[in-house]
Amino acid sequence: MKSLSPEAKARLRSRSRFVHLGRDGEASHGFVNLPPYRGSTVLFPDAATLESGNQRFTYGTHGTPTTEALCEAWTALAGAAGTALVPTGMAAIALALFTAVKAGDHLLMTDSAYQPARRFCDGMLKRMGVETTYYDPRLGAGIASLFRPNTKAVFVESPGSQSLEVQDIPAIAEAARARGACVIADNTWATPLFFPPHANGVDLAIEAGTKYLSGHSDLLLGLVSANAAWLEPLRRVERELAIPAGPEDVFLALRGLRTMELRLREAERQALALAQWLRARPEVLHVLHPALPDHPDHALWKRDFAGSSGLFSVVLQPTSDRAVAAMLDGLELFGLGYSWGGFETLVIPFDCAPYRSATRWAPGGPSLRFSVGLEDIEDLKDDLARGFERLKAAS
Ligand SMILES: Cc1ncc(COP(=O)(O)O)c(C=O)c1O
Repeated sequence: MKSLSPEAKARLRSRSRFVHLGRDGEASHGFVNLPPYRGSTVLFPDAATLESGNQRFTYGTHGTPTTEALCEAWTALAGAAGTALVPTGMAAIALALFTAVKAGDHLLMTDSAYQPARRFCDGMLKRMGVETTYYDPRLGAGIASLFRPNTKAVFVESPGSQSLEVQDIPAIAEAARARGACVIADNTWATPLFFPPHANGVDLAIEAGTKYLSGHSDLLLGLVSANAAWLEPLRRVERELAIPAGPEDVFLALRGLRTMELRLREAERQALALAQWLRARPEVLHVLHPALPDHPDHALWKRDFAGSSGLFSVVLQPTSDRAVAAMLDGLELFGLGYSWGGFETLVIPFDCAPYRSATRWAPGGPSLRFSVGLEDIEDLKDDLARGFERLKAAS
């Protein structure tokens, strides 16, 4: 196979891009996939090149052909100027925050953020002299009133990965731009397929590659893409921290990328079907899925997003913890476990109340989050229907 020219790659439609970006047939000697290049040392041909560092690869922490392939593909998919890879999604959150704030700065953080991201702000950033204010994710342009002279970054996660509030990112980005603050988005739920972050005003976009890029629950990876204004600051902190992603994980992520669009579109279909079924169940009080017309942020989701992924939540009618446990314990196809975006369906109970500070989480009953996989939807419904029988019997 000939390598595609940059012009030919730029012409490709979405599905072809997932298949062809980051591939170079000549560099991989005709093999379809690049191998996982492993290594610390890169040899230089002579003393002058060693001195100048003027060659494509110079040291393991600075990139390999495998990491470069994934960065090139992701940069194009995200509409970014460049991408950094780190070992986990949480490390990507840390890298983006370290890039945007320093001692004496103030950070605005959505109250709906992934809880370990809050831990990072309340722990590491606080110790380093950065103050965090949590804000209501539904504040939209109203965020303008929270800016202080030293506010240097606004962090969004839309939708929130448990509570599913959609944020008005274009309005937040406009308010931030007017004050010179960096907009950081955890875009893991939508991925650039359903929400192109940089075209919507985001400066640094985070993707936990652990989820849909992997698709198989067998790797950990974080990506931070930057627009042109924020690429150099990102590169500097990337170099200073020197925490590159593992070669095997990057290789697997490149492999996952090839089927990512297909898996995401199927996850979208499956999740919508299950969400609609759940909405009709008497045991369910609310379904939290922004693509359903009765979700409070549906109009915003429809305006800004090109699709929805396989992650959504439900609030059950009030019942005991014992009854919920009886439901969950007998499930055959729904794995009980953290993370999401894999080929297999997962469910976890959750409660945002203990850590929310700008908003109150009181949904009216116990909450469950689903990551819907690729099983037959009728099997999933049958399994859940049996679960609801156990719930009723134990109530
Ligand atoms: C929204 C979101 N962002 C980031 C992460 C962190 O990813 P990782 O598990 O790779 O650290 C997660 C993990 O669950 C997540 O749900």
